[in-house]
Amino acid sequence: MTTGDVTAELQRLAEEVQGCTRCDLYRDASHGVPGEGPPDSNILLVGEAPGRNEDRQGRPFVGAAGQFLEQLLALAGLRRSDVYITNVVKHWPNQDNGRYRENRAPEPAEILACRPFLDRQIRLIDPRVIVTLGRFSLATFFPGVRISDVHGQVREHDGRFFFHMYHPAAALHQQSLRDTLMSDMRKLTEFLREPLTEEQPEARVQELDNPADPEQLTLF
Ligand code: URA
Repeated sequence: MTTGDVTAELQRLAEEVQGCTRCDLYRDASHGVPGEGPPDSNILLVGEAPGRNEDRQGRPFVGAAGQFLEQLLALAGLRRSDVYITNVVKHWPNQDNGRYRENRAPEPAEILACRPFLDRQIRLIDPRVIVTLGRFSLATFFPGVRISDVHGQVREHDGRFFFHMYHPAAALHQQSLRDTLMSDMRKLTEFLREPLTEEQPEARVQELDNPADPEQLTLF
C-alpha cells in the first residue's frame, strides 16, 4: 500500500468512527476521536479514551494529559506530529447508569466494540513500536498483565515491539509517577535510537530492562 492509500483508508476509518453506533457511547458524545498523526509513523501511541476536551475537538490528548504527553515526547526529541496518537475507545465515556460521570473508565463491551478500529489502524500504519499508555491500553494487548510489573519495558509480540508506560493523566498530580514516566521515556528513547538488527532484538529488550547508567536518568 502506498502512503496515499493508507491516508485514504485512515480517512475512511475516521469517517466510520464519526458514524459509529457499535456501542452506546456515541449517544452522549459530540465527536468521535479516531486519532491523528503521520500515516507512516514508526510509533503508535495508544491511550485509553477521549475526555471532555478531546470530545469537543475530535482530537486525542488535547487536554492537560496531552500537554504532559507532549513534554514526554520532547524528552525523546519527538513532537506530537511525529507520532500517531489514538485511543482504545474512540468516543468519550461520560455516563454511568444514565447519570453523567466525567471520564469514567471504558467498559469491556465498549473496548471490544471499538477493537476493530484499533486493529485496522495498526495494520494500516504498521508501526515499529506500539506504546501503550495506561492499564486499559496494556490490557487490550496483554490481558492480565499488571502495569506496575511491565512499565518501562519493551516486549516483542506478533512481530512488533510494544513499550508500556503509565498513563500521563495518572501522573498529573503525583510527582513520583511523573518521574517514573520520564525515566521510562528515556528507556524508549534509547530503544528508538539504535536501529535493530534481525538477530538481536531479544538482547536489546533485555538490556533495556536494566538501564546501565542511572545517573543519566536525572537528565530527564
Ligand atoms: N486520555 C486518554 O487516554 N486519551 C485522550 O485522548 C485523552 C486523555
